[in-house]
Amino acid sequence: MFPSSSLLATLLLALAVSANPIVVRQSKASLPFALKFNVSGSTTLPEIDRARAAALISKAKNGKRSGISFGVTNTAVTYTADVGVGSPPTQYSLLIDTGSSNTWVGAGTSYVQTSTSQDTGNTVSVSYGSGSFSGEEFLDTVTLSDDLVIDGQSIGVANQAQGFDGVDGILGIGPVDLTVGTLSDSGASVPTVTDNLFQQGSISSNSIGISYNPVSRVPTTNGELTFGGTDSSKFTGSISFVDITGTSPASEFWGVDQTITYGTSTSILRSTAGIVDTGTTLVLIATDAFNRYKSAVGATLDHATGLLKISSSNFSRLNSLFFNIGGKSYELTANAQIWPRSLNSQIGGTSGNIYLVVADLGSNTGQGLDFINGYTFLERFYTVFDTGNGRIGFATTPNTKSTIN
Ligand SMILES: *[C@@H]1O[C@H](CO)[C@@H](O)[C@H](O)[C@H]1NC(C)=O
Ligand SMILES: *[C@@H]1O[C@H](CO)[C@@H](O)[C@H](O)[C@H]1NC(C)=O
Repeated sequence: MFPSSSLLATLLLALAVSANPIVVRQSKASLPFALKFNVSGSTTLPEIDRARAAALISKAKNGKRSGISFGVTNTAVTYTADVGVGSPPTQYSLLIDTGSSNTWVGAGTSYVQTSTSQDTGNTVSVSYGSGSFSGEEFLDTVTLSDDLVIDGQSIGVANQAQGFDGVDGILGIGPVDLTVGTLSDSGASVPTVTDNLFQQGSISSNSIGISYNPVSRVPTTNGELTFGGTDSSKFTGSISFVDITGTSPASEFWGVDQTITYGTSTSILRSTAGIVDTGTTLVLIATDAFNRYKSAVGATLDHATGLLKISSSNFSRLNSLFFNIGGKSYELTANAQIWPRSLNSQIGGTSGNIYLVVADLGSNTGQGLDFINGYTFLERFYTVFDTGNGRIGFATTPNTKSTIN
């Protein structure tokens, strides 16, 4: 009897292991987020975006140095979500960042330990280009919404943070490999909130859908992050997917290959790798491509904003910019290429002027990261970051051709 009951036990164990132990409570859930501005001092938007781009590119040049992540700091244009930590939860306003993957709190509002808080004994440290944070790593309950509650999420609790004025920390939703080396005691990665939602059966796929809408005033809640799927009310037509690029360093982020053409036939950027990034405001393209764009559209560089400025007569002749990604063409209309005129004063501009959102990346093509499609691009196209399948999806939205700006 012994052998057969132990065989039975083995079989039962095998069954238990092979059956999917995850009970998916629902397929997806959404989290709204809000846009805020804080351009201060003499720094311009393109300078802020270029500093982030330089940090991304330098990481690749230097290999995987421990705990290096990328500059969401000193960000003039931020998207934040309210996130609860602990039970009962304390609410934190966290930057949503697809270019880094550690989630942490405590830059502003202090961490409040509750019965769900467990100190892991690990320290954590992440450097974001011009800013950084370091502190203790805890496991705690993280509440993104009523439907999105994560047990035992690994989170950083800052005891030192630089460059995070006005926010409490980061909700890091980039690729999990960006967390490697951030903890003191191991080289292991730290599962992201999306990884845990998927592992714990809260969502049915390890993916995120992001919707931004163009805005004409701030602050405003105009974005939505959908964990585990997409929100079909936020896009039109179908989502076209493309594999993450194989070209480094773009491949370490949400990287794709694309070409950019101005009008019907003026080539701006030949097929090259770059990234889609929520932590970048503008559409940054390599310097050589930027110069081609500048002369094609007839714009001049404005020193107050650091952006290209275009006359109203040249704006009336401005053609669309076509982004070809994975064989599909995404049209950034003339209106989508300009900064919202009602928000000129927010970025050091003059009312009545017309500024373009296409800016200089700061280095020539050939870096393996030659463009960044920032949120001014994402305002016009719905985006899906599909970790489970290593791909990114794009779709048009009801606002793709909006003339709001
Ligand atoms: C805006 O940025 C400045 C300088 O970084 C900072 O001192 C200030 O607290 C920020 N204000 C808000 C509301 O975030
Ligand atoms: C308009 O664009 C043309 C080139 O297309 C350029 O020569 C001209 O200087 C631009 N006008 C202004 C006012 O910038």
